[in-house]
Amino acid sequence: MAIIHGDNHVFLLTTRSCSYSFSVDQEGLLRHLYWGARIDSVDDFKNEPYVWEQGFHPIQDVKREECSSFGTMRFKETSFKVAFADGVRDFRYRYAGHTIDKNELTVVLEDLVYPLQMCLHYKVYEDVDIIEKRRTVKNIGSEMVTMERLHSGECSLPGAGWTLKNFNGMWNADFDAYEQTIAGGKTVLESLRGATGHVANPSFVLYQNAGETYGEVYYGALAWSGNFKIVLEQTPYEYLNILAGMSDTDFEWRLAGGEALETPALYLGYSPDGLDRMSNAMGEFSRQYVMPKPLADQPLSVLYNSWEATYFDVNEQAQLELIDKAAQIGVELFVMDDGWFGERSDDHAGLGDWQVNAVKFPNGLAPLTRKLKSYGMRFGLWIEPEMVNRDSALYRAHPDWVYHYPNRPVMEGRYQYMLDLTRQDVRDYIIGEIDRLLAEHEIAYIKWDMNRGISEVASANLDPSEFKTIWYQHTKGFYHIIQSLRTLHPEVEWEACASGGGRVDYGAMHYFDEFWPSDNTDPLDRLSIQEGYSYLYPIKYMRAWVTDSGNNGKRTMPLLFRLHSSMCGALGIGMNLNECTVEDMELLATYVKIYKDIRPIIQFGRLHRLASLPVDGLQAVQYENGEESVLFAFLDHPSRWRTTFSIRPRGLNPKTIYQVDREGQQQQHYSGAFLMNHGLDLSLNHDYASCMVRLLPERSRGEGNK
Ligand code: GLA
Repeated sequence: MAIIHGDNHVFLLTTRSCSYSFSVDQEGLLRHLYWGARIDSVDDFKNEPYVWEQGFHPIQDVKREECSSFGTMRFKETSFKVAFADGVRDFRYRYAGHTIDKNELTVVLEDLVYPLQMCLHYKVYEDVDIIEKRRTVKNIGSEMVTMERLHSGECSLPGAGWTLKNFNGMWNADFDAYEQTIAGGKTVLESLRGATGHVANPSFVLYQNAGETYGEVYYGALAWSGNFKIVLEQTPYEYLNILAGMSDTDFEWRLAGGEALETPALYLGYSPDGLDRMSNAMGEFSRQYVMPKPLADQPLSVLYNSWEATYFDVNEQAQLELIDKAAQIGVELFVMDDGWFGERSDDHAGLGDWQVNAVKFPNGLAPLTRKLKSYGMRFGLWIEPEMVNRDSALYRAHPDWVYHYPNRPVMEGRYQYMLDLTRQDVRDYIIGEIDRLLAEHEIAYIKWDMNRGISEVASANLDPSEFKTIWYQHTKGFYHIIQSLRTLHPEVEWEACASGGGRVDYGAMHYFDEFWPSDNTDPLDRLSIQEGYSYLYPIKYMRAWVTDSGNNGKRTMPLLFRLHSSMCGALGIGMNLNECTVEDMELLATYVKIYKDIRPIIQFGRLHRLASLPVDGLQAVQYENGEESVLFAFLDHPSRWRTTFSIRPRGLNPKTIYQVDREGQQQQHYSGAFLMNHGLDLSLNHDYASCMVRLLPERSRGEGNK
């Protein structure tokens, strides 16, 4: 049973490997008891009475809670803050009941005096070791209630010295993974951009002594693409308190009588065996429960994207030539990036005007879609629907459709403004325009970009007292638009991009079929970006393009290294194929073919991070489906003459004999036990050397001896 409510008033939530427990104490308050390896007996958890001894240590800070609320003798950061109409600012709740429906639990809390109710929702995903938390707050009276903070969930871990892993990044330097030991006080991960952003990811990974294959790891990810806040507070009382949800900085939400507000979901996970298991559990969870169907179960196509080949300089002739070339190398989906619409010749103009530019495409998009159809390829387009340039027909017609203060200039970011999604007319306009675009042309794929954050957080549509709701409303408006378009055009595939990986989160994953994790396509930088991304997000969603070496003024690297690096995700090509040599075209065609053969293993298999450049001197990653494996290894520069490396694959059958296939070299045969324990020797002996190795099961050791 996934959820038990014991006679001792203890709740026990259990997955395959994990248990989570809390109790209702003698006063009706929720006490957090446990989160960790599985314990089946609810009776083991004692619901001891808590006694407030009036000493120096306030009981609510000393004890771990399941739903802390600002006020009373709580001085720690709390998960909820509310102001009642008379100015009272604490929610003094008591347990008021619960319901259990299969794998879902709802616990109801009510204030002692005021008609305010909070429901804590739990959902147990047993097979993937995930517990979902959400909250709903409902005003069951008639007077206005103002919420100033409402986290999705609270949990805690005993002891001190926890290591936090998260990702600090910026445009072109996404998913820079770091580790930090939390010593004392509060560690805060937050976005105030109105979107996820690159600076921190709405997730946390915590452990005391863990690595890829060992140690207990506790993790969480928010299903929210707007302002978020994760507070990790090391209390002096030997526990780490964890709060996660929408950011309360500049947040306020008023509930009139009968109104309710529901938070985004927080997914909590536990791995008894290190980070490898965590990543694969999240991959499985994503595929089964988060990714939109039916694409969740289908491999992603090899795509071509025109951005780095042409930037804004797209036109019919050049795109037709690129289509011919893309067809020659086996591309399945051709995506025309920025520059095809409005008066768009650079980033100063055109956003908001989603009509095909008649100078660049005098015959519309039909010549492109016709040609693609003749090759059996699909067509995709780039859009940035939440935005408008000052220099656009849309802005000239509706200057009040952007967030703004009436008496101050609006800051421009990349020469653009953010459309006010709290307005229904704006939401309807975007849905109408994109719907028309999709209906008028044969478009199978949309790359949805978002290249600036919200500033001047005010709306002509709202009363000034409601301006602090804009952050929440914008994200909800964004979800509404994408969901409406998905419903109108269920056959279209959607990619989420925000200046690269600025919208990689479990909220966006509910609405998009893939992520663009970074604008940085340097294949070496990309290895660490992909590694950072892979901890909590699925490889299937990780688009990776092979681009021209030396693009953006970066270093020159062999095409094979670039191909191998991008084959570690959902392969795309972003080179200017019109300038490729015959040899390069042949190599591209060969590897696109190989990729199509191995992509079920890459996109649906288990991922093992075998070696990381800064630590091990090489980067190595393995994808495995229980039978076959594909490994990639990369070296930046040979250091001190070290050119041979040994990597130890995981997840093989010790008794099976594997055929080791190293791209054109003579095949060798080793047992799974040998490969996993002794290791596989690799020779990487020059700058930017890389290799791909396939392990194919041949026979079992027993059979071989017969
Ligand atoms: C952003 C995206 C890029 C590209 C450009 C187009 O930077 O992240 O991939 O689409 O916009 O302007």
